[in-house]
Amino acid sequence: MSMQDVFDAIQSGGSGDDLANLAIPESYRAALVKREEQEMWEGVDSHEKDPRKSLHIEEVPVPELAPDEALVAVMASSINFNTVWTSIFEPLPTFMFLDRLGKESRWGARHALPYHVVGSDGAGVVLRTGDAVRSWHSGDKVTIHCNYIDDQDPSSHDDSMLAANQRIWGFESNFGGLAELTVVKANQLMPKPAHLSWEEAACNALCNSTSYRMLVSPNGAGMTQGQAVLIWGASGGIGGYACQYVLNGGGTPVGVVSSPEKAALLNEMGVEHVIDRKAEGYQFWADEHTQDEAEWRRLGKKIRELIGRDPEIVFEHPGRQTMGASVFVAARGGLIMTCAATSGYNIEYDNRHLWMKLKSIKSSHFANYREAWEANRLIAEGRIQPVLSQVFPLDQTGEAAYNVHHNLHEGKMGVLCLAPEEGLGIDDRDFREQVGEGTITLFRRHGL
Ligand SMILES: NC(=O)c1ccc[n+]([C@@H]2O[C@H](COP(=O)([O-])OP(=O)(O)OC[C@H]3O[C@@H](n4cnc5c(N)ncnc54)[C@H](OP(=O)(O)O)[C@@H]3O)[C@@H](O)[C@H]2O)c1
Repeated sequence: MSMQDVFDAIQSGGSGDDLANLAIPESYRAALVKREEQEMWEGVDSHEKDPRKSLHIEEVPVPELAPDEALVAVMASSINFNTVWTSIFEPLPTFMFLDRLGKESRWGARHALPYHVVGSDGAGVVLRTGDAVRSWHSGDKVTIHCNYIDDQDPSSHDDSMLAANQRIWGFESNFGGLAELTVVKANQLMPKPAHLSWEEAACNALCNSTSYRMLVSPNGAGMTQGQAVLIWGASGGIGGYACQYVLNGGGTPVGVVSSPEKAALLNEMGVEHVIDRKAEGYQFWADEHTQDEAEWRRLGKKIRELIGRDPEIVFEHPGRQTMGASVFVAARGGLIMTCAATSGYNIEYDNRHLWMKLKSIKSSHFANYREAWEANRLIAEGRIQPVLSQVFPLDQTGEAAYNVHHNLHEGKMGVLCLAPEEGLGIDDRDFREQVGEGTITLFRRHGL
């Protein structure tokens, strides 16, 4: 039995029973980094660390399935920034996460391996479920969210993102989604939107759920109608979904991008107010140690020119390069919602602008199951669109990650795992037509 046989059985519409009776191959192809290479970039500048050299595609053994887990044939996955971090071993090699998980239990011990299969997104078909799984069965078509929690831990039973040992699948756990198979907890599964192809369905869960929590959920900004939101990286992964949430929620997005092409993409999406940060030439840091308040003011003035006021919410993730400006430009009483620090995590801002104008900074990290489920439902209802712009085969995962590392992309980079070509997996063509091919594929047309 090979992974090709598994694909053929799925593609030929095999029933759940057929798939349940299918023998599972002993190994599968996966994108991974190697423990023995975790020092390979020592002394190399971040920018020069090349994911194409550290991400390998190799055959690995299929792990044993725990009672609360599902074995999923991954048809497609996507690149997230965390795979870039893993592949450049920054800020720390992820093997330390695997070793920590390895100490937790017999099942945790499976993860502490000489290799780390990466990837925190996926769409595919359930092949097997553990004995304790109730709601999912062989043959179910699913998307996978990346909140990996221990549901026997009491701290995971309010907002599960507050769980003491909350992890991100494929980043802080092994057996990630950039592979032909994955092993996930059953509580990571969600129904695959029927009108989308495998790669369109696979690119959403991580970024879409993150933006949902940051903007829509009461755990985040709880955005209300009419609010203005400054969105950094507005045509990127989380930014592309953030724009949609603000538009859907009756708010006014002000998108920041770095090229006229990206600005045009946002306009086509319905974002009227766009700032090209490159064309404007903002230099928020005068030198490595000093920020330039005049540049913050210039950005604030630009936003006022566009929308006539200051944004109530700033969707912040670039971190060190932009945080000073974000705190400055937020409206009196406004909220800076942060989930990342791509350009550096030692943040500086002028606290006077925060407290004197009663602003707040709030943090967010991925999403709990309920939030991820709601965000997935909005995709399934055609209210939020995938922001897939390019698609790569599994053996070019490194190339795809390189593009994200060097900001050469828009939206999301998809990766075909078992699916041999784009466009497979669409089950509900009528609904697809209703949502609109052009609407669904806006980013893909730009990425061609
Ligand atoms: N905590 C979480 O749960 C979570 C979830 C998802 C992502 N993240 C993090 O969020 C960040 C963004 O993720 P993503 O998937 O959206 O990445 P992405 O697709 O690379 O998009 C990020 C965008 O930010 C903009 N940007 C990059 N550096 C910047 C800088 N110095 N100043 C201003 N803008 C800059 C770029 O847009 P322009 O060049 O067009 O301006 C880029 O397209 C990453 O650090 C990621 O790890 C966190």
